[in-house]
Amino acid sequence: MLAGKRVLLIVGGGIAAFKAVDVIRGLRAQGASVTPVLTKAGSEFVTPLTLSVLAGSKVYQDLFDLTEEIEMGHIELSRSADLVVVTPATADLLGKMANGLANDLASTLLMATDKPVLVAPAMNVRMWEHPATQRNVKLLKSDGVLFCGPVEGSMACGEFGFGRMSEPDEIIAAIGAALSEGPLKGKHVLVTSGPTHEPIDPVRYIANRSSGQQGSAIAAALVALGAHVTFVTGPADAPPPQGVTLVKVETAAEMKTAVEAALPADAAVFAAAVADWRVASASGSKIKKEAGKLPTLEFAENPDILKTVSHMSEGRPRLVVGFAAETDDVIANATAKRARKGCDWIVANDVSPATGIMGGSENAVTLITEHGSETWERMGKAEVAERLARKIAAALG
Ligand code: C5P
Repeated sequence: MLAGKRVLLIVGGGIAAFKAVDVIRGLRAQGASVTPVLTKAGSEFVTPLTLSVLAGSKVYQDLFDLTEEIEMGHIELSRSADLVVVTPATADLLGKMANGLANDLASTLLMATDKPVLVAPAMNVRMWEHPATQRNVKLLKSDGVLFCGPVEGSMACGEFGFGRMSEPDEIIAAIGAALSEGPLKGKHVLVTSGPTHEPIDPVRYIANRSSGQQGSAIAAALVALGAHVTFVTGPADAPPPQGVTLVKVETAAEMKTAVEAALPADAAVFAAAVADWRVASASGSKIKKEAGKLPTLEFAENPDILKTVSHMSEGRPRLVVGFAAETDDVIANATAKRARKGCDWIVANDVSPATGIMGGSENAVTLITEHGSETWERMGKAEVAERLARKIAAALG
């Protein structure tokens, strides 16, 4: 997916530097080449040898190393890539970048480059919230620097809050989006996929037969068109696609929280088969089998994520797409569902057992929009996904 792309990857000094190793691995797995640059502080956390072996490249460390200047000057190095990535971007590096300081190889490359720059900040929550950092971030954003994170979470220093570096998958997805040439370049699309599992007790759950194939295929097709995709998936059989920001959930309630956290998005595709009900009070311990006694389960309604997002008064994605798995009167039922849910499009499919669609590799869909319905011929789930992704790209313009 990133075949032929060249990334200059600056590794700053912070405990999150270990994640740079996985970023390099992930980028290479997608066909990109990576040239690492290690700051002095960064070398306290990862060794040049580790980076060099994983990147399959020389690691650049010192501005005043004459051999390097003869091999490749710092100006040339800064421009030989398609994208410059800083991971982790420390408060110090952000400060230097925002204020035009260039006193080591990394900061000099960042000043000299004519290529887009993406930073993944990582620092203590107080440092992130400090007015100086926030001022620098604002300046850098107005200079066109791209940001991935930071996210909220627990930190190596024992504190909790914003400042934790994004996970390697997210950074790779952001790199993919920054390098994309497709019609969805710069667009953020949220996709839900797979079933949800609703616990009965710690070992038992209620589930459904969704394989997650169609959702995965849609996410992959959107990535191929250049979108930054956040993929929120329940426990699905289908592997998640590469190049997405992956959020794994179990229950409908967790899926709703993850969806809300992933917004804003330009479009949202709700392909998940969310359980309609959960067990009202799931047991905290395993329900014991007792001879002659059958447990009674009481259900509670799950939140309708599609309906909730479709009715958002602020921050609603411009295009909200729902799915309808129907077994009869597909068009009439799906048209009614579009109105009931308040979404823009409904992708309806006939999942009566005879079709073999649920869990199979093909799908026969009807797309319901405000203009009416169009029925597509039966085709592979990947083709359905590509066609839908092209339609989404056209709608987002
Ligand atoms: O109501 P029904 O489950 O048939 O609607 C299917 C559509 O609604 C799908 O797009 C599914 O992802 C979404 N949905 C949801 N939250 C629920 C139930 C369904 O987002 N609790």
